[in-house]
Amino acid sequence: MKGLFYDMCGIIGFTGKTSASKMLLDGLEKLEYRGYDSAGVALLCDGEFSVFKTVSRIKDLRGTVSNDFDSNIGIGHTRWATHGAPSLENAHPHISCDKKISVVHNGIIENYLQLRKELEGDGVVFKSETDTEVIPNLIAKYYDGDLFDAVLKTVNRLKGAYALGVISTQHPDTLIAVKKFSPLIVGLGENENYIASDITALVSRTKKAIYLDDDELAVITPQNVKIYNSKGVTVNKKPTVIDWDITSAEKGGYAHFMMKEIMEQPKAVRETVQHRIKDGMPFFDEIKLNAQKLKSIDKISIVACGSAYHAGMVGKYVLEQLLKIPVEIDVASEFRYRNPIVNEKTLAVVISQSGETADTLAALRKAKKCGAYTLSVVNVVGSSIANASDDVLYTMAGPEIAVATTKGYSTQIALLYLFAVWAADILKTAELKELKEITVQISALPSKIEACLEQKDKISKMAKRSAEAQSIFFIGRNIDYAVSLEASLKLKEISYIHSEAYAAGELKHGTISLIENGTPVMALSCYEPLLEKMMSNIKEVKARGAFVVACVDQSNKNMVTEADSVIFVPKTHNLLYASLEVIPFQLYAYYVAVYKNCDVDKPRNLAKSVTVE
Ligand code: G6P
Repeated sequence: MKGLFYDMCGIIGFTGKTSASKMLLDGLEKLEYRGYDSAGVALLCDGEFSVFKTVSRIKDLRGTVSNDFDSNIGIGHTRWATHGAPSLENAHPHISCDKKISVVHNGIIENYLQLRKELEGDGVVFKSETDTEVIPNLIAKYYDGDLFDAVLKTVNRLKGAYALGVISTQHPDTLIAVKKFSPLIVGLGENENYIASDITALVSRTKKAIYLDDDELAVITPQNVKIYNSKGVTVNKKPTVIDWDITSAEKGGYAHFMMKEIMEQPKAVRETVQHRIKDGMPFFDEIKLNAQKLKSIDKISIVACGSAYHAGMVGKYVLEQLLKIPVEIDVASEFRYRNPIVNEKTLAVVISQSGETADTLAALRKAKKCGAYTLSVVNVVGSSIANASDDVLYTMAGPEIAVATTKGYSTQIALLYLFAVWAADILKTAELKELKEITVQISALPSKIEACLEQKDKISKMAKRSAEAQSIFFIGRNIDYAVSLEASLKLKEISYIHSEAYAAGELKHGTISLIENGTPVMALSCYEPLLEKMMSNIKEVKARGAFVVACVDQSNKNMVTEADSVIFVPKTHNLLYASLEVIPFQLYAYYVAVYKNCDVDKPRNLAKSVTVE
């Protein structure tokens, strides 16, 4: 894949007996969290398309959709501009020149210029600057009474990434869906069926969905869904049952999804760990990775992006300590292009909340190609990364809507702890007594996270003082350093304050020159074996005028005299502090962003799911 953009667009489609516009607009509202700059719907009524678009919000689109008629079939889209500015002309759905085909598209068509020229030669007049508009026109070109065949011929001509929803005036109850690289789901209802780029747009209507694989094509009517491969041969696919309820995809009384999701962490971590502990030890019944394979592993390679990478960083410290196996960690975009030394003795651990991140998926495929055994830690059931891995461990975070992840991260690290303990028991690389003690402490994390959340008001006051800061630093050692990376990322992504995380011992090699009178420094100091070293680093920055906020476990009263302000978290096993320590800093980032009037759930330039390189 060439090109660099965030695929934040959203697709929705409906065919049924009831109001298409209602379902499409409700669905588009659910997709708003992905970020968009324009939106639209195409409804088929009396043999003609009615198209409504906006360069504003979905609620404005709702206002423009005519109430005078209604339709039982339609497609909708939220667009994040890539080819062509945000405008009504460029917003989807797009209609073919002969007005018979309408299409919504996520992804990028790399050969669209060549196709556009060809179609212009045939007399097609284009109305937009988008790459997408070639698609309805190609379908119209190939259409000779068989819509399925025309779509198949069209996708065979496309290079790049796409998830498509297609309707035609000639087939008033048929919706066609097809995908390559961009995610697309078919939802199954009663006398109605749907498509969506994202399950959150469908959970209020159905819990049954089919995740399309690349090159699969779905022909959907109100009563029927048929899936075909790229050769037009029928494929039998079992629907996935989604156990998310609608309230978990809505704000539930909180001002922002992010706060709701922060507060959901005790529940999410509990649901992730509790069913995996039996007789005081973790177990993983569902995976194929067995003792024999595990014993052959001489290196673990962790690959992920963003916060999932930071979760992997926590995993590195824990896995190395418990398994005594070297653990490498890479951001996926580096791993996939650096010829890593990976072979059949490598266990590749791939972490992704969405299961759709393009770089992570590519890195996973690369590791597999090199012979590695691949195990993914994923939140979304049936997602591309889950499907492509040898084994998948699901986090039970439920839908995460805020762009800045919180419960996704917390459940990822919880699952990594369990996996590390389970593997250490098989490899006999740690005392059973210690492994049992860690497992007890993992079970206790949800209630300790609750205790951390109770400090909301204190953190909110602290955040108020930081809202004007130019720069904020986070320092730590070992696991505290891994959490510093995540704490710093949370702050910068939603509050836009410049922030850096540093291994505390590295400060003196450069960053300390940035410390001046009043510079806030967050000193994460829970990891007991390196506490004394951290104390020295705190003294170092204080001597240069820093305002130090230390985060320590509640037994550490000494810190009160050292730091300017102290955040306490409950005591736990040294390997597990990340789960507690991250909570106050998620709250801190949240409140700083709120004080700065930032769009907390949809920070500028960022996407929840980055499905294209
Ligand atoms: C985006 C999101 C981050 C997330 C990263 C990886 O950048 O904004 O919050 O950590 O993608 O996403 P994944 O779904 O693979 O965990």
